Amino acid sequence: MKTLLCRHKILLTIILLLGSVFFSGQVVAAEVSEDTDACIGCHSVVTPGIVSDWQKSLHYKVSPTEGLLKDSIERRISAESVSEGLAETVVGCAECHMMNSGKHPDSFEHNGFTIHTVVSPADCATCHPTEVTEFADNLMAEAYASLMNNPTYAHMIDSTNGNHEFDEGAMNFHGSDPLTEADSCLSCHGTDVKIIGVETRETDMGEMNFPQLSNWPNSGVGRLNPDGSVGACSSCHMRHQFSIEVARKPYTCAQCHKGPDVPAYKVYSVSMHGNIQKSVDKNWDYKAVPWTVGKDFNAPTCAVCHASEIVDENGEVLVKRSHRFNDRLPWRIFGLPYAHPHPIEADTSNIVNKGGLHFPTELTGEPVSKFLISQEEMDKRQVNMEAVCSGCHSYQWIKGHFARLDKSIETTNHMTLQATKILSQAWAEGLAEGIPQGENPVNEAIELKWVEQWLFFGNSTRFATAMGGADYGVFADGRWSQTKNLQEMYDYLKFLRATKPPLKN
Ligand code: HEC
Ligand code: HEC
Ligand code: HEC
Ligand code: HEC
Ligand code: HEC
Ligand code: HEC
Ligand code: HEC
Ligand code: HEC
Repeated sequence: MKTLLCRHKILLTIILLLGSVFFSGQVVAAEVSEDTDACIGCHSVVTPGIVSDWQKSLHYKVSPTEGLLKDSIERRISAESVSEGLAETVVGCAECHMMNSGKHPDSFEHNGFTIHTVVSPADCATCHPTEVTEFADNLMAEAYASLMNNPTYAHMIDSTNGNHEFDEGAMNFHGSDPLTEADSCLSCHGTDVKIIGVETRETDMGEMNFPQLSNWPNSGVGRLNPDGSVGACSSCHMRHQFSIEVARKPYTCAQCHKGPDVPAYKVYSVSMHGNIQKSVDKNWDYKAVPWTVGKDFNAPTCAVCHASEIVDENGEVLVKRSHRFNDRLPWRIFGLPYAHPHPIEADTSNIVNKGGLHFPTELTGEPVSKFLISQEEMDKRQVNMEAVCSGCHSYQWIKGHFARLDKSIETTNHMTLQATKILSQAWAEGLAEGIPQGENPVNEAIELKWVEQWLFFGNSTRFATAMGGADYGVFADGRWSQTKNLQEMYDYLKFLRATKPPLKN
C-alpha cells in the first residue's frame, strides 16, 4: 500500500513537472499566422538556423498588439497603430518577407506566396517608423552615396583596390573591379543591390525560381536596396534575432569601427569604460527597456554614448534614444582631411571646397562652413553628449575631459596642416603629380604618407582623446607616429629634390 502511494506520488510529480515544462514552452508565443506556419513547415528543414534564430527573437514572442499596450518608456515599437492583418499574430517570416510586396522589384513567386528576400528599412517602418526616419539622417544611411558619388574619394578607392603591375621597368596601374569593391570598401559602406536576372535552381524541395541579386550578400550600413530604400538595419540587428542586446554590445560596432582609420573599438577596448564592460558585464542586463544607469550597467558601451535611451532609478530620462547617431556629435573628428564641425546633410558628396575638391575643409584647414552645422547646433549636441556622462560623472570630470578633446582637435589639425604644406611644396616643385597637375593625389609615396598623417594618425589621436585608450593617442598610431611621419615626409621631399629631375617647369 505504502509503496504504491509512493509510486503514485512520484508518477504525479513527473507528470506535473513534464506538464510545467511543456506549458512554459507554450505560453511564450502569441499566435503564428497561417502563412508563416507554411514557411516554417519547409524552412525548419531547409534553413533550420533561421527558424531557431527567429524563435529566440521578440518578434516570435510579442505581437504588435501586445507591444502597443506597453507604457511609452517600455515600448519597442514606435508606430501609433498597426493594421489589423498584422497586429494580432507574431511577426513571422511571411509578415516581413511579404511586406509592401508591390513596392519590391525583387518580389517573386515562392511556393504559393509572393515574397522578397531583401526585407528593407521601409518594411521595418510599418512598426518602427521613428527608428527608420532617424536612421535616414545618419551618415551611416548615406555611406554608399557619400563614398561612391564623391570624385575626390574615387581616387582613394582606386588606389586601394586596384592592381599594380611592374612591367618593363615601370609601375602600371589597373583600376578596381566591382567584386573587389563589394569585398572591400562596400562591405561596410554597403553595396548596390539590384535584380540582375532570374535563376531556376534545383533545391532539396524541387525546382524553384529565384531572382538574382547583384552584390549580395551584404549588410553594409548604407546599402542601396532593390525597393529604393537605403541602409540595412541588419548591420547592427543581425537577422533573425534582431536583438537589442547585440546592438548594445560594442562587438557589433567593432565589425566596422576598428581599423587604423576608424579605431573607435580599439580605443574603447583599452579604455577604462571598455575594461569595466569586459570585466563585469556578466552582471549587466543588456535587454532591459528602459535601460537604467547604475542598475542595468555601470560603464558606457558605444551604444550608451551614441544612441541609447538612459534613465535613472526614478525613471527620469537622462538622454533620449536616437538612431540619428550624430545627435550627440558636435564635431566630425574623422578628419577629411581635418576634423571639422559635423556636416548638415548625411549625404556628403555634394560638399565642395574653394579648391574644387569634395572635402568639407579647405586644404589649408578652414571648414567649408556652408555645409557644416552652426556653433549653436554644436553646443546643443555637446549638451546631449554631456547628459550621458552626467549619469556617472560630475561637472568637473566631464569639462576636464572635453577641454582635452578641444586641444587634441587643434593640435592634430595643426600637424595635418604641416604635412599638407610639405605635399603642396612637392607638387609645386613638380616632384610629385597631384592636384595642380590634375592627377590622382593619393598614389605616390609622399602622397600616401600624407593620407596616413590624417587618416591614421590624426584620427587615432583624436579618437583616443574622445573615447579613452591613451596608447592609441601616443605610440600606437598616435602622436609619436604623427611626428615620425611628418619628419619622414620632409626627408622624402629632400630626397626627391636631390634625385629626381623636375617633371614640369
Ligand atoms: C515548399 C517549401 C517552402 C515553402 C512553403 C517556403 N519556402 Fe522559402 N525556400 C524553400 C527552399 C527549398 C529555398 C531554397 C533554399 C536554398 O537556396 O538553399 C527557399 C528559399 C527562400 C528564401 C531565400 C531566397 C534567396 O534569395 O536566396 C527566402 C527569403 C524564403 N525562402 C522565404 C520564405 C517565406 C517567407 C516563406 C513563407 C511565406 C517560404 N519561404 C515558404 C522552401 C520553401
Ligand atoms: C523582422 C523581419 C523578419 C522576419 C520575422 C523574418 N525575416 Fe528573413 N530576413 C529579414 C531580413 C532583414 C533579411 C535580410 C538580411 C540582410 O539585410 O542582410 C532576411 C533574410 C532572409 C533570408 C536570406 C538569408 C540567407 O542567409 O540566405 C532567408 C532565407 C529568410 N530571411 C527566411 C526567413 C524565414 C524562414 C523566416 C521565419 C522563420 C524569416 N526569414 C523571418 C527579415 C525578417
Ligand atoms: C509587423 C510589425 C513589425 C515589423 C514589420 C518589424 N518589427 Fe521589430 N518588433 C515588433 C514587435 C511587436 C517587437 C516586440 C515589441 C515588444 O516586445 O514590446 C519588435 C521588436 C524589435 C526590436 C527590439 C528587440 C529587442 O531585443 O528588444 C528590434 C531591434 C526590432 N524589432 C527590429 C526590427 C527590424 C530591423 C525590422 C525590419 C527588418 C522589424 N523589426 C520589423 C514588430 C515589428
Ligand atoms: C571595416 C569597415 C570599413 C571599410 C572596409 C571601409 N570603410 Fe570607410 N568608413 C568606415 C567607417 C566606420 C567610417 C566612419 C568613421 C567615423 O565617422 O569615425 C567611414 C568613413 C569613410 C569616409 C568618410 C565619408 C564621409 O564623407 O562621411 C570615407 C571617404 C571613407 N570611409 C572611405 C573609404 C574607402 C575609400 C574605403 C575602401 C578603400 C573604405 N572607406 C572602406 C568603415 C569602413
Ligand atoms: C556594417 C558596418 C557598420 C556597423 C556595424 C556600425 N557602423 Fe557606424 N559607421 C559605419 C560607416 C561606414 C560610417 C560612415 C559613413 C560615412 O561617413 O559615409 C559610420 C558612421 C558612424 C558614426 C557617425 C555618424 C554620424 O552621423 O556622424 C557613428 C557615431 C557610428 N558610426 C557609430 C556606430 C555605433 C555606435 C555602432 C554600433 C552600435 C556602429 N556605428 C555600427 C559603419 C558601421
Ligand atoms: C548602427 C547600429 C544600428 C543600426 C544600423 C540600427 N540600429 Fe536599432 N538599435 C541600435 C542600438 C544601439 C539600440 C539600443 C538603443 C537603446 O539602448 O536605447 C537599438 C534599438 C532598436 C530598437 C528597440 C527600440 C526600443 O524602443 O527598445 C528598435 C525597434 C530598432 N533599434 C530598430 C531599428 C531599425 C528598424 C533599424 C533600421 C532602420 C535599426 N534599428 C538600425 C543600433 C542600431
Ligand atoms: C564615454 C562615451 C563614449 C563611448 C563609450 C564611445 N564613444 Fe564614440 N565618441 C564619443 C565622443 C565624446 C566622441 C567625439 C564627439 C564628437 O565627434 O563631437 C566620439 C566620436 C565617435 C565617432 C566619430 C564620429 C565623427 O565625428 O567622426 C565614432 C564613429 C564613434 N565615436 C564610435 C564609437 C564606437 C564604435 C564606440 C564603441 C567601440 C564608441 N564610439 C564608444 C564618446 C563615446
Ligand atoms: C554608466 C556610467 C558611466 C558613464 C555614462 C560614463 N562613464 Fe566615464 N567612467 C565610468 C567609471 C565607473 C569610470 C572609472 C573611474 C575610475 O575608477 O577612475 C570611468 C572613467 C572615465 C574616465 C577616466 C579615464 C582615465 O583614464 O582616467 C574618463 C575620462 C571618463 N570616464 C569620461 C567619461 C565621459 C566624457 C563620459 C560621457 C561622454 C562618460 N565617461 C560616461 C563610468 C561612466
